[in-house]
Amino acid sequence: MSRYTAYATGNSDGSPRILVFAGSTRADSLNRKLARATAEALQRTGLQTTLADLRDYPMPIYDGDLELAEGLPPHAKAFKELLRSHDAFVIASPEYNGSFPALVKNAIDWASRPEPGEKHLATFRGKTAALLSASPGPGGGQRGLRHLRELLEMIGVTVLSTQVTVPRAIEAFDSDGRLVRTADIDAVSRLASDVGQALTAPAAAA
Ligand SMILES: Cc1cc2nc3c(=O)[nH]c(=O)nc-3n(C[C@H](O)[C@H](O)[C@H](O)COP(=O)(O)O)c2cc1C
Repeated sequence: MSRYTAYATGNSDGSPRILVFAGSTRADSLNRKLARATAEALQRTGLQTTLADLRDYPMPIYDGDLELAEGLPPHAKAFKELLRSHDAFVIASPEYNGSFPALVKNAIDWASRPEPGEKHLATFRGKTAALLSASPGPGGGQRGLRHLRELLEMIGVTVLSTQVTVPRAIEAFDSDGRLVRTADIDAVSRLASDVGQALTAPAAAA
């Protein structure tokens, strides 16, 4: 069950909240390691950061009949509430066949569904996102992020131009799951700093 029940974003002091998650539920996921490294970098910049795991939100493939009969499934609703209670999303997504995984699309599809009294795409509109990808291959998952960027922009999210791809990612993490290559560490730090800047001066960073 989600720990986040409030729909309001920002902390009581008004500071923005950032949700970080990986588009993989695999136990040894490279993208989960990258998500964790990014959450730590965001925390180092002083940003209020939540690291979530889609393994904690198993949900069926979107089904309109199920929605009509029962509304959003509990984990889909909980993940939607988690998204709603944050101002920015940082997603480390694998590349599957040149796109992003159905896991991510499905979670976004459920979260995009309006509930009674809710404005169209209220979970996403006006929010900010930043994207990363790790892949064992040489492309680092770049092609998948193109599609994910397009989807998020379609539903009203401003996606930062700064994005991080980690190619040959099998060699990119140590046994504790920490990034080892300076270029990757610097790229993640830059992204964290750009997210912070975008949230404090959105017009300048978009
Ligand atoms: C269905 C499928 C399709 C894949 N397609 C690509 C691809 O197009 N490009 C790529 O770089 N890696 C591809 N891969 C390999 C993934 O990048 C690799 O499995 C990666 O470790 C998945 O991310 P994870 O470690 O976070 O689970 C594919 C893997 C699967 C299962």
